[in-house]
Amino acid sequence: MTKTLILNGSPREKGNTVSLIDRITGKIAGEYRVVDTYRCDISPCLDCRYCWENNGCAINDEMQEIYQYIQECDNILIASPLYFLELTGRLLDVGSRLQTFFCARFFRKEKPIIKSKKGAIILVGGGKGI
Ligand SMILES: Cc1cc2nc3c(=O)[nH]c(=O)nc-3n(C[C@H](O)[C@H](O)[C@H](O)COP(=O)(O)O)c2cc1C
Repeated sequence: MTKTLILNGSPREKGNTVSLIDRITGKIAGEYRVVDTYRCDISPCLDCRYCWENNGCAINDEMQEIYQYIQECDNILIASPLYFLELTGRLLDVGSRLQTFFCARFFRKEKPIIKSKKGAIILVGGGKGI
């Protein structure tokens, strides 16, 4: 079964990002898991450097399940409002936990994720944009 991980960077439960996510989840095949970054139990990376030498992450929180889902999934969708032309703060917090994959690849010279995936991004803005 196809698995899709969706990282939702919006704090607004009925906002623009969520309405676009709802449109996608209404059409995709297989299962999906949405990480609601403003309400989940995932701390930012603390730069403890455990992953410089060890597989995984020393912080024992909801991200441990997400690491597993990242290994298994076929698709990853990042969906976020723009805040000051960036992803939102909580989404960056969650994203910082991907540092373990960077360290695996570039410090420990391991292949951190075996299964290849498709990626997509939705960015929602409110101004005229630049
Ligand atoms: C703190 C903050 C910063 C923002 N910065 C930008 C920006 O740089 N560019 C932009 O187009 N919209 C910006 N916006 C507007 C939001 O991206 C816009 O309202 C968006 O539709 C909100 O998405 P949501 O309803 O899914 O939460 C900002 C909004 C906030 C609250």
